[in-house]
Amino acid sequence: MTTITEYVRVLLVGFMGSGKSSVGRSLARSLGWSFCDFDHEVRKRAGMSIPELFGRHGEAVFRTMEESVGTDLLLRRRVVLASGGGWPCTAGRMDALPHGTLSIWLKVREDVVFSRVTRRKGSRPLLDVEDPRPRIQELMRVREPWYAMADWVIEANDLEPAAIARLIQARLREPPMVVET
Ligand code: S3P
Repeated sequence: MTTITEYVRVLLVGFMGSGKSSVGRSLARSLGWSFCDFDHEVRKRAGMSIPELFGRHGEAVFRTMEESVGTDLLLRRRVVLASGGGWPCTAGRMDALPHGTLSIWLKVREDVVFSRVTRRKGSRPLLDVEDPRPRIQELMRVREPWYAMADWVIEANDLEPAAIARLIQARLREPPMVVET
C-alpha cells in the first residue's frame, strides 16, 4: 500500500554545540510551531541548572529525568524539539520515534564543537575537564552512529542557525514523501 507521510514534529539531534536550540527556535518561528528544548524542560522539572543537577545528584538522575522529558515532549504536535546530545544514544529512541516525527542530525566537526563549547565553559558537565578535546573525540565516535539514524543529515559547520532553519524549511516544502508500507 502507498501512503503519504506528513510530519507533525521535528526532532533535532546532534552533539553538544551543534546548534540544536538556536536552529530549533528559528525553525519553529518560521513554521509557526512551538519550540521545546529537552534540557530546558529538565531544568524546569529539577528546579536547578544541568551542571547543578549533575553535581548534586549525578548523571544517572539526569538521564532518568531526560528520558521522561523525552517521552512527554515527543507526544506534542506542531512542535520543533531539541534533544540533549546524549538522548538519542540509547536503544529504543531513534529506532522508536513516534509516527509523524522527522528527525534531523545537525552534524558538526570536532573542531567546531571544541570552539563552541569552550566559549561557554562550565555549562556542559561532561566536558568540564582540563582538556575536553579527547573527551569530545571519544563521545563523538560512540554517538555518531546513533545520530546517523536520523531521517536527514545537515552539515551544520559553517551556517548561521537561521540559514540552517531555512534549508530545513525549504526541504519540508518539497512534495510530500511517498513511502511504501
Ligand atoms: C549532554 C548534552 C547537553 C545536556 C547535558 C548532557 C550530553 O545538552 O543534556 O549536559 O550527554 O551530550 P546539549 O546537547 O544541548 O548541550
